[in-house]
Amino acid sequence: MANPSALAYHLRELAIALDPQSPLHAMPDVRGADRAVLDIGCGIGQTLAACGTVPGRRLVGLDVDRECLDYGARRFAHIDFVVGRAERLPFQDGAFDLAVSRVALPYSDLGRSLDEIARVLVPNGRVWLTLHPFATTWLHFVQSLRGGDFRDVVFRGYVMANGLLFHCLGRQLRFPFNQRCESFQTVGGMRRGLRKAGFTDIHIQRGRHFLCTARKRAGD
Ligand SMILES: C[S@@+](CC[C@H](N)C(=O)[O-])C[C@H]1O[C@@H](n2cnc3c(N)ncnc32)[C@H](O)[C@@H]1O
Repeated sequence: MANPSALAYHLRELAIALDPQSPLHAMPDVRGADRAVLDIGCGIGQTLAACGTVPGRRLVGLDVDRECLDYGARRFAHIDFVVGRAERLPFQDGAFDLAVSRVALPYSDLGRSLDEIARVLVPNGRVWLTLHPFATTWLHFVQSLRGGDFRDVVFRGYVMANGLLFHCLGRQLRFPFNQRCESFQTVGGMRRGLRKAGFTDIHIQRGRHFLCTARKRAGD
């Protein structure tokens, strides 16, 4: 049974993904030639489900949350659901034409995740990511401070420090008390991280969404 609050979140996101008029709508550009598409941190598969189906195209959703994947598998039979982590993708090199990840990589060790995404893409394969700007972390920090949730205040402090660390050094640390890895992202940090992982044609858009697209360099 999926955690009710996680399931409620994913169902809300599914409704947004299916509604192009929603101001929160942000969907990847899946092209006719994309034979295999991977969604990292897919929840119940909401983004892939809203992409529709094309005969012969393989859609794979990966997440750490087995219960949500089970729910997705019951509802969306055309998607393959796989338990796994962004930092260690259980797929062969060059298995996908497009990798998407909607607000999931901020909860992972970004350097490792970007290396793994590059590995599982074909040469010239594309990546589409949405991320967390500093403002998201700051809002959580202020909310926790006002609510007197001092444990979370400490954790948000760690998330801010980890975001700075990735921006400056391209590295991250796990929070010592629960081993979680979380950070906010910056335009400069993402550009450097994507380039280091072997991506080119990097485009970053900052508006309602913090959106990054890039292409894996051929020959890497
Ligand atoms: C904010 S939700 C986004 C879900 C979905 N992509 C969307 O846009 O609605 C983040 C998701 O990332 C998953 N997640 C967290 N850490 C992860 C990791 N290291 N590897 C893969 N998935 C992860 C969570 O279980 C959760 O389903």
